[in-house]
Amino acid sequence: MMKMKNSFYVTTPIYYPSGKFHIGTAYTEVLADTIKRYKQLRGYDAYMLTGLDEHGQKIQTIAESKGLTPQEYVNQMAENAKKVWSLMDIKYDDFIRTTDERHEKVVQKIVNKFIENNDIYKGEYEGWYCMPCETYFTETQLVDGKCPDCGREVKKMTEESYFFNMKKYQDRLIKFYEENPGFIQPEFRRNEIFGNFIKPGLEDLCISRTTFDWGIKMPNDPKHVLYVWVDALTNYITALGYMSDDDTLFKKYWPADLHIVGKDIIRFHGIYWPIFLMALGLELPKEIYAHGYIVVKDGKMSKSKGNVVYPEMLVNRYGLDATKYYLLREMTFGQDCLFTPEAFVERFNSDLANDLGNLLNRTIGMMNKYFDGVIQGKNDNENEIDKALKDYTNEQISKIEQLFDTYHLSNSLAEIWAIISRTNKYIDETMPWILAKEENKERLATVMYNLAESLRKTAILITPILPETANKMFTQLGITKPELKTWESLKNNSVEAGTKVIDKGEPLFVRLEKDEEIEYIKSNMN
Ligand code: MSP
Repeated sequence: MMKMKNSFYVTTPIYYPSGKFHIGTAYTEVLADTIKRYKQLRGYDAYMLTGLDEHGQKIQTIAESKGLTPQEYVNQMAENAKKVWSLMDIKYDDFIRTTDERHEKVVQKIVNKFIENNDIYKGEYEGWYCMPCETYFTETQLVDGKCPDCGREVKKMTEESYFFNMKKYQDRLIKFYEENPGFIQPEFRRNEIFGNFIKPGLEDLCISRTTFDWGIKMPNDPKHVLYVWVDALTNYITALGYMSDDDTLFKKYWPADLHIVGKDIIRFHGIYWPIFLMALGLELPKEIYAHGYIVVKDGKMSKSKGNVVYPEMLVNRYGLDATKYYLLREMTFGQDCLFTPEAFVERFNSDLANDLGNLLNRTIGMMNKYFDGVIQGKNDNENEIDKALKDYTNEQISKIEQLFDTYHLSNSLAEIWAIISRTNKYIDETMPWILAKEENKERLATVMYNLAESLRKTAILITPILPETANKMFTQLGITKPELKTWESLKNNSVEAGTKVIDKGEPLFVRLEKDEEIEYIKSNMN
């Protein structure tokens, strides 16, 4: 069976369960979830994978410090992760944990295959070792020659390790990059990886350790455990049942259409992952997208600085859609994004409460005032002003579609909001209150109709991103028929005459008291 044409497979990184998730991690989940929802709306059979990367020295140390076994600790963390993703309504299809038996078994089979292929050899690993943290660092990771985690002295040490022969695949990887220029997005990241890391020559990768045992054992040499990347990257295929008794999902969804990763791990995904797949004789993913970091005023979010923003705080106080809107709107394609409480409150008040919320509220208010809440249908010939709104909206829809298709969600939101501004302008241009005074009911009905239609389209466009708000909009507009909520209906259908809007619309977003809320967010960053 070949991967089905209309299937779409999107993945997030599997996170280290080393603490509570901040809005950086939440952003990745929201991005993947939104892309999945968009693809579904476009008729794809979309599948989203997320999960946890549960092995390694660090996890073992944290667990011990809490008086738990590593397994007990990661079990708790997996429950916590699922709770946050449920609060954020993340519609993942599977949650893979690297301690799952289905994963561990297949990883060992994969390593055996590497051994059979002569891709792995035994050598010596040399690095800077921090005794208290029990962790190796490379020269460049050290901070002033000391441990980057605890600041203490490090010692140069060597240990026996297994290595993956990356050099063997170098030429094939170069060829692949040359033939697939869009493989890594954004382009500047692709150029960075290709130019700075692949072209100058690959280093073989150390894949095992003997200094800790919380990991998957090397099948040929159990005093070694796999160290990070073979264990972690393969989750994307073990979760689909690759090399297992039931590989239906693997056949249906592999190769992945999109791996979403942060900029710090793009190198592993852009180099090691394709090479592991080549070694297994599998197809490579179609695209890897590296997003930037969410940072705060004093730099990286960190518990020790007490400046971490947690998604629960924002969702519980401002709602899920407002939180998602902020994250997806502020994080532009591939760039870092500065989180500030000021910008959060500003976006909420200006974009959500004012631009979108007021447009809907005003429109529903006028419809009730002038036509007892019933949409009349077009009773008047389309004039220049109507045509300008319609043409503009149609052009915007094509633009937005293209932006969604290339995962530029911040830009697509900006273009959706341009429709909202244009529709607000349409009210100023047509001046319905004057038409009402003049008792020009025919023209007034047409204006109301065009407003309803613009709002219907806006609701469809925001459906993958802000589904709750889209539904509220449909409800207030009295739009119940599923065929008026589909992406196709952006082109073909329109609101029906006789549709009854809600008597009194609830505001979609209630304006925030600026200073109070800025203070609230600040005092809840910790
Ligand atoms: N376990 C590995 C990934 C293995 S994937 C096969 C890992 N885990 S992590 O928990 O350290 O990071 C997970 C993801 O979170 C990475 O993509 C990383 O870029 C992302 N982020 C960590 N901090 C972030 C921000 N402040 N902002 C946005 N994303 C950030 O690496």
